[in-house]
Amino acid sequence: MIPESSDESPRAAGLERVAPGALLCVVGARPNFMKIAPIMEALAAGPAPVPAALVHTGQHYDAGMKAAFFTQLGIPEPDVDLGVGSGSHAVQTAEIMRRFEPVVDAAHPAAVLVVGDVNSTIACGLVAAKKGVPLIHVEAGLRSFDRAMPEEVNRVLTDQISDLLFTTEASAQANLEREGIDPARVHFVGNVMIDTLRRHLERAVPAATTLAGWSAPDLEDARGLRYAVLTLHRPSNVDDAATLERLVATVVELAGAIPVVFPVHPRTAGALARAGLDGRLAQARGVRMLPPVGYLEMLGLMAGARMVLTDSGGMQEETTALGVPCITLRENTERPITVEEGTNTVVGTDRARILAAARDILTTGGKGGRVPRLWDGQAARRIRAVLEDWLAARGAEPATRD
Ligand code: UD1
Repeated sequence: MIPESSDESPRAAGLERVAPGALLCVVGARPNFMKIAPIMEALAAGPAPVPAALVHTGQHYDAGMKAAFFTQLGIPEPDVDLGVGSGSHAVQTAEIMRRFEPVVDAAHPAAVLVVGDVNSTIACGLVAAKKGVPLIHVEAGLRSFDRAMPEEVNRVLTDQISDLLFTTEASAQANLEREGIDPARVHFVGNVMIDTLRRHLERAVPAATTLAGWSAPDLEDARGLRYAVLTLHRPSNVDDAATLERLVATVVELAGAIPVVFPVHPRTAGALARAGLDGRLAQARGVRMLPPVGYLEMLGLMAGARMVLTDSGGMQEETTALGVPCITLRENTERPITVEEGTNTVVGTDRARILAAARDILTTGGKGGRVPRLWDGQAARRIRAVLEDWLAARGAEPATRD
């Protein structure tokens, strides 16, 4: 259910739990949750924790898009829930800003920390910057150079207004430098998403459990379960009916060669239904559609897959960390290290290119890869170390402007 907007003050939603001068850490949408989990844990660790509070904007609110992740990843319940829900980009961004401002006013935070590139990232970043509160961006500097992607706009703008920027790969450093950002503010710390992956890999739900009861043809061979994982949710892929139809036809064809597991994002479920394509996929032999799955289920599915086909940014990184071949259904990637060093191949949405890449993986195993530098499970600890020095240097003075 979509929560309704209201004029109710966010005070009612837990503001009293925020200690003045704490670091306000923001999450909003699914890919933020696995990034914030190790950061909250690192900040809380040891005899002298860094005071921090968690604000959830409510951009993602369905149980399958939120609750499962908080529980599985052990993320503390948000101190403040802004409950914004869905809307157009303008409405969602504006509503997050409107509801976040009184939180900043009341909390006098030492800084606001945002992760990733979703609407919550730029919305809360703008509020902080306009109030003179220092802004920290985790996963800064990634660029697809495609301004038609809403996330690219969010990334570029957030980086421009950030005081402290943490990066995951060398390309990000170069991008930020080119955009005139003082290198002294940029710290290469590795990848917090991979911290989470390493931390939870042993607890991943085996694919056999998630796929129990599915009797697709050729689902098993001598090496065990044999399947591909598919995810799709980018507006450029799912909101355009012609592209979506081409992708669906390609997936149905691919499923003739290898069973395809497809956890369906709510945006995509809506788009498939509107285009009348949901029945075609559901009835296709070798395709298993699932509702959005939890983090541990997805980790198990990816780890056991012969290949992953996706338009997600995070899954390009996760497959590289897992050494599983990834076919990226986009024209570009903001994470070039996954192609240069990892297992990722960017193919776009052309049927022949997708099927050729899949065939290559099925016949040769696909390209190998190595795990990029500092994707070692220690990124959040590095972030904490930098933050402690930075806060100490600033005198940890609460700073707000009216
Ligand atoms: C957002 C992020 C994207 C991220 C993705 C991961 C932006 C611009 N995009 O895209 O970068 O990769 O999350 O999931 O911030 N919906 C629900 N339940 C929910 C959330 C969404 O039903 O809990 C439906 C709504 O119909 C909504 C649609 O999904 O309109 C899209 O949600 P939204 O948050 O606008 O963007 P995403 O496509 O999820």
